[in-house]
Amino acid sequence: MKLLIINASPRKNGNISKRLELMKDEAERAGVSVFVEYSQSFKIRPCIGCMKCRSAKNCVLPEDDAQRMLDLIQECDAVIIGSPTYWGNMPGTLKLLFDRIVYGLMDENSLAIPVPLHKGKKALIVCTSSTPWPFNILMGQTRGVVRAIKEVLGTAGFKVSSIQRGGTKKHPEITKKDIRLCQKAVRRLIGR
Ligand SMILES: Cc1cc2nc3c(=O)[nH]c(=O)nc-3n(C[C@H](O)[C@H](O)[C@H](O)COP(=O)(O)O)c2cc1C
Repeated sequence: MKLLIINASPRKNGNISKRLELMKDEAERAGVSVFVEYSQSFKIRPCIGCMKCRSAKNCVLPEDDAQRMLDLIQECDAVIIGSPTYWGNMPGTLKLLFDRIVYGLMDENSLAIPVPLHKGKKALIVCTSSTPWPFNILMGQTRGVVRAIKEVLGTAGFKVSSIQRGGTKKHPEITKKDIRLCQKAVRRLIGR
């Protein structure tokens, strides 16, 4: 089994990175091959909105990290996306990727209704915010991030679950409960 982890936080020792590290270790202990990518270091040109990829099944822009990442997503059985909350949404570095690889995530039928290309795969979203619980949920902070990423991965056919943790400004520490949650979510994701 192959697992792709995309870290959308630029902080190498931040809230998301620590959780993703735990998850990587847990998956590797179970014999899974894990690939880790950082959206902060992607070299990806923004989508120009020409819509040509919808029929050509390729992007008109010169090849960059968007195609490399799409190849990885296609090769992997499961994906973990770790994302901090930026303005109640995902960081721009991650959105840039998703905008450029629409054609590899979904097809369209004759009525322009999306047809998923990754049915049968699973995804896990890990999200943190400085807004504390329950306002990270009630005020659409981590919930906004999960909704936005789910829009992409759900449309692509992934079965999506999530971990949302608010209050990282006051409580940046990883508790025993956090560790248990992360490890359990990964085991469920990889079916062990
Ligand atoms: C540019 C930027 C925008 C942010 N926007 C929000 C926000 O809208 N809501 C929120 O609760 N926290 C916001 N935060 C705080 C982060 O989501 C929070 O500190 C998160 O836990 C950081 O995770 P990290 O340490 O993995 O980077 C923002 C942080 C930055 C740098």
